[in-house]
Amino acid sequence: MATKLAVNFGDVTEAYRRISNFIHKTPIFTNNKINELTGRNIYFKAENLQKTGSFKARGAINSILKLKVENSSVAGVVTHSSGNHGQATAWASKSTGFSCSIVVPKYSPAVKMAAIKEYGAELIQCGPLPTDRMAACEKVAREKNYEIIPPFDHNDVIAGQGTIAVEFLEQVPDLDAILVPISGGGMLSGIAIAAKHIKPGIKVFAVEPEGKILEKCLTSGERLWPNPPQYLDTIADGIRLQQVGHLTWPILLELVEKEVFTVNNEEIKAAMKFVFQRLKLVVEAASGAGVAAVFSDRFKTLDSSIKNIGVILCGGNVDIDHLPWY
Ligand SMILES: Cc1ncc(COP(=O)(O)O)c(C=O)c1O
Repeated sequence: MATKLAVNFGDVTEAYRRISNFIHKTPIFTNNKINELTGRNIYFKAENLQKTGSFKARGAINSILKLKVENSSVAGVVTHSSGNHGQATAWASKSTGFSCSIVVPKYSPAVKMAAIKEYGAELIQCGPLPTDRMAACEKVAREKNYEIIPPFDHNDVIAGQGTIAVEFLEQVPDLDAILVPISGGGMLSGIAIAAKHIKPGIKVFAVEPEGKILEKCLTSGERLWPNPPQYLDTIADGIRLQQVGHLTWPILLELVEKEVFTVNNEEIKAAMKFVFQRLKLVVEAASGAGVAAVFSDRFKTLDSSIKNIGVILCGGNVDIDHLPWY
């Protein structure tokens, strides 16, 4: 019997109703060249064009709008994020009139830190480890009576990210599979919950940077990652975390394909270039990872019945002075 998951399709549709006046319905792009090269129909969901430049706007604004209704005594929100969730939380706070502090590691791309400040949030820099971020975040929450909005391991964040799939399947009902870049797994688990509910036969795949060993974990059903959580050595700064979350893990285990697409830096770079040149879209390396999966050897082995494939262009917050091929 299927286990009861923390988030269900009702939470996602509720989130969609809640956030749809705040976010963009992002467009779908296709490209003849990529269809020719891959022998399939590839549909790109341009979340790089979402508010704040990534899908993270969905989860952040869903969490904050819900919090405002359910807990009016909270003074503001705080989060820790390498950038995109921070930017999204800062934007969502401003859009809903909440105070906000964002904890970011010192090495975060300048473009992401500048954007957080522009949205009017307080920026707090911390040490390089995942544990440093959490400690800094908890301190702010305690001292200021702020609610923590985690980047992925939170029911309302997962439900918000799931709205991508509701929209995508409205726009392209014939999708047979969706490829989703993963870090903590908030986006992938949300998409899996919604997509598998709307279309039970659809396959939802993870795309990871080298070293994440997600396939080994999903196949064995065990969290094989070392503790404390580590960062991967990848140019895709949005998807650097090795471990997935504790809330997202059971969802992934139940709903996501065990086969995982693993991509390296060179493949990510080449895919990013392809998107810049052919689709004329600005994407960050995490989006490049999803596109790289489509060019991978494993992709060629996908069952021929999987014809229409969605790829999430998850973010576009790239520092144009430091593009990875320069
Ligand atoms: C651009 C981008 N893509 C993908 C991800 C992965 O999202 P998740 O942590 O929900 O797996 C992130 C996370 O920060 C991101 O910023």
